[in-house]
Amino acid sequence: MARIVGGITTSHIPAIGGAVPKEDQLVNDPYWLPFFSAYPRVRSWVQDVKPDVAIVVYNDHGLNFFLDKMPTFAIGAAPQYINSDEGWGIPTIPPFEGHPELSWHIIESLVNEEFDITSCQEMLVDHGFTVPMSLLWKGNTYQGVKTIPVCINTVQYPLPSPLRCYKLGQAIGRALASWPGNEKVVVLGTGGLSHQLDGERAGFINKKFDLMCMEKIVDHPEELTRLSVLDLAREAGAQGTEFILWLTMRGALGDKVSVVHRNYHVAISNTATGLLLLENAA
Ligand code: DHB
Ligand code: FE
Repeated sequence: MARIVGGITTSHIPAIGGAVPKEDQLVNDPYWLPFFSAYPRVRSWVQDVKPDVAIVVYNDHGLNFFLDKMPTFAIGAAPQYINSDEGWGIPTIPPFEGHPELSWHIIESLVNEEFDITSCQEMLVDHGFTVPMSLLWKGNTYQGVKTIPVCINTVQYPLPSPLRCYKLGQAIGRALASWPGNEKVVVLGTGGLSHQLDGERAGFINKKFDLMCMEKIVDHPEELTRLSVLDLAREAGAQGTEFILWLTMRGALGDKVSVVHRNYHVAISNTATGLLLLENAA
């Protein structure tokens, strides 16, 4: 079986993608310091543990899928994933290696468990995927790490519920347990926390709700699965619904996890950023 060595949640704000290459010049910048200073601990964990595979649970923001065709759950099964200019002006970074065999195993296993998956043998990946990868593998040193994009619709209603996503994560965990290889897998849940980018409530942040989510997701994620997508939109803003990506990651881990590192910072680009590194307790 493949072994899940940990789960990491991180923000994927495009502005971070622009700041990452300049990080070493921003060490004394009051805007970026509280954000970047949370990452060395998680990066050193990644360097020490050396995961073979990263399953990246993210949402596409209009690069690969647009409103005309919007799968609820799409999983990459390509040998390589390419990043492309999505119009933010953030640097395009080197391609990501895929793991098509494991992707197909996960897809087959999920379909057998009644999750209807769109399988993608070609896939462009946007900031939702690339920003976390370049944050965690500083200097884009992710060569040799095989990636599996798990793309969930958080853009166009109707969105899958927190419970559905948590169950999807649990099913991904079972798929990894039945895989004959022995890869070390890290699961990333990207995006969040509270943010609303447009409309009357643009700039909306709910620190109390975010901190409650960051606490409950550790030992009582099932309580969070009782929230609806509308609860999330009301409490965390329209784009705060990205929290379903975190719950997918959490579902893939075991029942008991321990917190290796956690950080919460407001705000980057009108968004609350949450960083959490969990290890399976067993
Ligand atoms: C922004 C975009 C995102 O996808 C996100 O999750 C947070 C912020 C932005 O445009 O700033
Ligand atoms: Fe986003």
